[in-house]
Amino acid sequence: MDFSLNDQQLTLQDAARRYAAEKIAPVAAEFDQSGEFPHEVIRGAWELGMMSTCVPEEYDGIGLSMLDSCIMVEELAWGCSGMTTSIMCNDLGLMPILVAGSDDQKREWMAPCASEFKLVSFGLSEPNAGSDVAGLQLLAEADGDDYVLNGTKCWITNGGHADLFTVFATHDRKSRHKGISAFIVPAGTKGLSPGKKEDKMGQRASDTCVVHFDNVRVKASQRLGAEGEGFRIAMQTLDRTRPSIAALAVGIARRGLDECLAYAQERKAFGFPIGSFQAVQFMLADMAKGIEAARLLTYQSAWMVDQGMRASKQSSFAKCFATDMAMQATTDAVQIFGGNGYTKDYPVEKLMRDAKLMQIYEGTNQIQRLVIARELLKG
Ligand code: CAA
Repeated sequence: MDFSLNDQQLTLQDAARRYAAEKIAPVAAEFDQSGEFPHEVIRGAWELGMMSTCVPEEYDGIGLSMLDSCIMVEELAWGCSGMTTSIMCNDLGLMPILVAGSDDQKREWMAPCASEFKLVSFGLSEPNAGSDVAGLQLLAEADGDDYVLNGTKCWITNGGHADLFTVFATHDRKSRHKGISAFIVPAGTKGLSPGKKEDKMGQRASDTCVVHFDNVRVKASQRLGAEGEGFRIAMQTLDRTRPSIAALAVGIARRGLDECLAYAQERKAFGFPIGSFQAVQFMLADMAKGIEAARLLTYQSAWMVDQGMRASKQSSFAKCFATDMAMQATTDAVQIFGGNGYTKDYPVEKLMRDAKLMQIYEGTNQIQRLVIARELLKG
């Protein structure tokens, strides 16, 4: 077993690290406070080839492996996890097309996202169906060769700025998971309109909003896979993207540790740097070991995805462990900074607010435990 990164991965890691340090971190607090969408930072990431990275070379993309993508995401998240959520959202939005799209669909909808700057959103969650995907209500009624979509999606990352949406809708609400199909819907389609932008606790630089569908007409050629395959497509998408959420959490925690290591050597109490006290040392040690363990789970689950293996359990291990770890690590970071940590003059309170979302989105950590337990019990 070889734990070292290859030359290409080291180059990618270095490029992402520099972008995070030079372009993301310096403006992170400003966008956190304003809640504005950081267009230039997101566009800059695209110009460096750090968006829509899942698009294979045959569709004009760079076709990063999931492992490569995780290496990159950890670095970007060190700078700001909200901006990184927006940067990596294209891969989440495009994944259903990669998983279930025909060659024609990939050429028509996915390839342009690699050659032009476009934002893609993943439309799964709804006001009354977050964890319970099979209970989603957005209705897709057949009308000749078309479908007409009616309903509301919520918590849609980049929803207010997206050029393209992958959307999950039901033909028959009573059929639960068996009645769901996935559709590709470009922004600008009549009846599709972004609604309320959420005023979030953390990750405030990522755009999160409601999206309304009012008689949105899509062609049958915009349906991914067969009718009724949407639930499976959603689950297979999340199996593949959860490792990158874990990577994002590792990036947040690593930033927390870096801030604490510097602070613990500067800040004095009782005449000594606080890093000389075991109470602080133990927290630093726990943060470091949590980061290492979470990164290993992240890499393992990403590697499984790259091998084409079913990675439901490992992706949930990684997502759940890494995001719980990030929450603990950033809470400890605030503790180490004491009163200073509770103010906006220092960066750690933002990390703690940002980390909280990680335990909630792309499946709450309770859902991850459910997935893990079901996989265990299936044997
Ligand atoms: N791969 C393939 N098939 C799968 C699967 C998988 N990973 N998981 C389940 N299935 C299949 C099952 O085998 C079953 O098939 P049959 O019809 O043949 O029996 C079918 O799908 C139904 O499965 P379940 O009985 O397990 O379904 P369930 O209703 O009990 O729900 C769940 C399962 C795991 C709770 C699921 O609803 C879930 O993952 N919920 C969380 C949703 C989530 O993560 N949302 C995140 C939104 S995106 C976001 O937050 C990102 C953002 O914008 C930042």
